[in-house]
Amino acid sequence: MEAALDPAACGTCHVEQYKDWQTTLHAAAMGPGLLGQLVDMAPEARDEQQDCIRCHAPLAEQADGLAQAIASPARGGKGARLHEQGLVCAACHVRGREHFGPARRDGSAPRPEESQSLPHGGWTAASAFEDARFCAACHQFEPDGFALNGKLLENTLEEWKASAYAAEGKTCQSCHMPERRHLWRGVHDPGMMRAAVSVEAAPPRAEQGTIRAALRIRNTGTGHYFPTYVTPRVVAEIFQESAAGSMIDGTLAQHVIQRQVALDLSREIADTRLAPGAEAVLEYRRPPAPGAVRLVYRLRVEPDRFYTELYESLLAGGAGRGTKMIREALRRSRASHFAFYEERKALEAR
Ligand code: HEC
Ligand code: HEC
Ligand code: HEC
Ligand code: HEC
Ligand code: HEC
Repeated sequence: MEAALDPAACGTCHVEQYKDWQTTLHAAAMGPGLLGQLVDMAPEARDEQQDCIRCHAPLAEQADGLAQAIASPARGGKGARLHEQGLVCAACHVRGREHFGPARRDGSAPRPEESQSLPHGGWTAASAFEDARFCAACHQFEPDGFALNGKLLENTLEEWKASAYAAEGKTCQSCHMPERRHLWRGVHDPGMMRAAVSVEAAPPRAEQGTIRAALRIRNTGTGHYFPTYVTPRVVAEIFQESAAGSMIDGTLAQHVIQRQVALDLSREIADTRLAPGAEAVLEYRRPPAPGAVRLVYRLRVEPDRFYTELYESLLAGGAGRGTKMIREALRRSRASHFAFYEERKALEAR
């Protein structure tokens, strides 16, 4: 058990980390959207597979399992195989059968003689675990990596370095692993999204037959661009609502916050993301609609916007052996949308 790479084995002793990890996207990093694309590759195309799994399932043992599964899809045995378990504990904590971790909370680490009596032969303390660069391997492209419009497609560490958080010593871990918990919540999580920005709804004013209002969104809690990737889309909205609570046609104003790129990654279309401290304002100026009693201010997110379109296009072009999985991934990506801010203000009776 101490030598096993399976997260469930680590979890027999490290119960809290295992419980938290299971709820995360790191644990789901080999979901149907990814596996559905991988199973359509040739089993011997290890380099092509490696281009994806070096971030999604990085252990050499996982690469072997994946190649076997592509060659003979009929599965043997019970439970998820190692490559299906995504970013497993050992990918961050084990090298050459040796275990690494941050120093204990009191700053200490096992002495050599103590190690012999500990499970998995003890462990070695490494300061890397408390450093923001730990996350960069997968969340930051190399300087010569793929870029559009002069900006790397993944630039999270550099965005963070340019923010006040870096100077204050607030690392990725401070926000995404509070109290060392293995949570990694992000754009898919309503609580994290509410912490990401401050929102101010300027109440409606009637002026010469028009309603004027504004929704102000400031990045006050995100340690990088809001959002950092090209994949989510955040939409700010203001509209008029009837007494029955439905949106009145023709009254909707929107502002999109997104780094929008073409589906084939050939060009950047727009970039309206908010750097730390930056703000966006949606100005509202519309005539009052008959029957309107309230103004609704809303922020909603489509965390997997880019992937929804990608899966649609994969299915349209024929997703081969991965078709069933890509269909499931499309369904999940559409179901991931949610509103994380909603405010209603009464309109004056006319
Ligand atoms: C070995 C590569 C790897 C490392 C190292 C890594 N991540 Fe990730 N991370 C990923 C992948 C891949 C995903 C996307 C999983 C998916 O959705 O399929 C992800 C997803 C996330 C998400 C969820 C984003 C969302 O969409 O909600 C957060 C937050 C995150 N990582 C933070 C971190 C932090 C903080 C660290 C450093 C302590 C870190 N990651 C280290 C590969 C990695
Ligand atoms: C440098 C690390 C890295 C590499 C290499 C990488 N990914 Fe990802 N991938 C991520 C991160 C981080 C996320 C989560 C953030 C996001 O949604 O963009 C992600 C998310 C995804 C998702 C959506 C979430 C899910 O699991 O359904 C898919 C699909 C995906 N990647 C496919 C691929 C494919 C296919 C390749 C190979 C061509 C690849 N990735 C290579 C880091 C990586
Ligand atoms: C994406 C990389 C990553 C993955 C996956 C990961 N960890 Fe960690 N782990 C870390 C980092 C980073 C820290 C240190 C966090 C800090 O110091 O703020 C840590 C800390 C720990 C600690 C020390 C906790 C403490 O309170 O002192 C243990 C134990 C641990 N991890 C076990 C696990 C187990 C078990 C799993 C799988 C269920 C796992 N980790 C998965 C990155 C990871
Ligand atoms: C039989 C129980 C057991 C199993 C199985 C086990 N561990 Fe441990 N692990 C421990 C104990 C006990 C310690 C020592 C804690 C200490 O020294 O403070 C430890 C220490 C660690 C640390 C260092 C914690 C720190 O403070 O930095 C990490 C990281 C870790 N284990 C990861 C793993 C991973 C990953 C696996 C699975 C591949 C695993 N462990 C399997 C019991 C176990
Ligand atoms: C001050 C707190 C804070 C710090 C520091 C921070 N983040 Fe975040 N992060 C957030 C919040 C809040 C969100 C949710 C809003 C969003 O998606 O931008 C988020 C979202 C994410 C996501 C989801 C994808 C996306 O498009 O936004 C990833 C991945 C991520 N962070 C990785 C990192 C990494 C890697 C670092 C360190 C280089 C880091 N974060 C530093 C607060 C922080």
